[in-house]
Amino acid sequence: MTRRAVTFEVNGEAVTVDVEPRMLLSDVLRHEVAITGTHVGCEQGSCGACTVIVDGNPVRSCLMLAPQAEGTVIETIESVADGDEMDPVQQALHAEHGLQCGFCTPGIVMSLVAARRAGSDAAAACDEVLGGHLCRCTGYVNIRRAVHRAWEDLPREHDPTVGRSAQGGGSLPVEGGEAS
Ligand code: FES
Ligand code: FES
Repeated sequence: MTRRAVTFEVNGEAVTVDVEPRMLLSDVLRHEVAITGTHVGCEQGSCGACTVIVDGNPVRSCLMLAPQAEGTVIETIESVADGDEMDPVQQALHAEHGLQCGFCTPGIVMSLVAARRAGSDAAAACDEVLGGHLCRCTGYVNIRRAVHRAWEDLPREHDPTVGRSAQGGGSLPVEGGEAS
């Protein structure tokens, strides 16, 4: 299959990859750019493990083809902390023991970071954002506690740059499992 060059920005760095058009963004990030914090679980948009932020919107990278990333600005879990300073969402998950094996955690963090920036409230984050993520380890009690801690104890200013429509990939609706 004919390969093509795709250029985008990921975690502040401009990247050009030469890929087959059928390649998924999740695979490009992991195998071509060697940024492996983005996890791949179901590969069909259900589990949320592969979530990254594209032009301010949380996106399932397993549902986005590499050419759709042309010209976009992508953030992955590797960009969330500021050096040794964890993002409030990460701090809250740590404080509330909101992870077990951690496989689902990068995707959850990216969705919650985007929701906080977009001004979502804690209840919506618990019901709508976590409702789109599947954790196979156990329940969501501590993850929900972490959401409330992140929203109520660690406020962050609204980021007006977030929420504009993505160029190429677009945002995906929250879907999938129950957050209970
Ligand atoms: S791997 Fe993309 S949603 Fe599950
Ligand atoms: S912490 Fe293991 S899958 Fe969620």
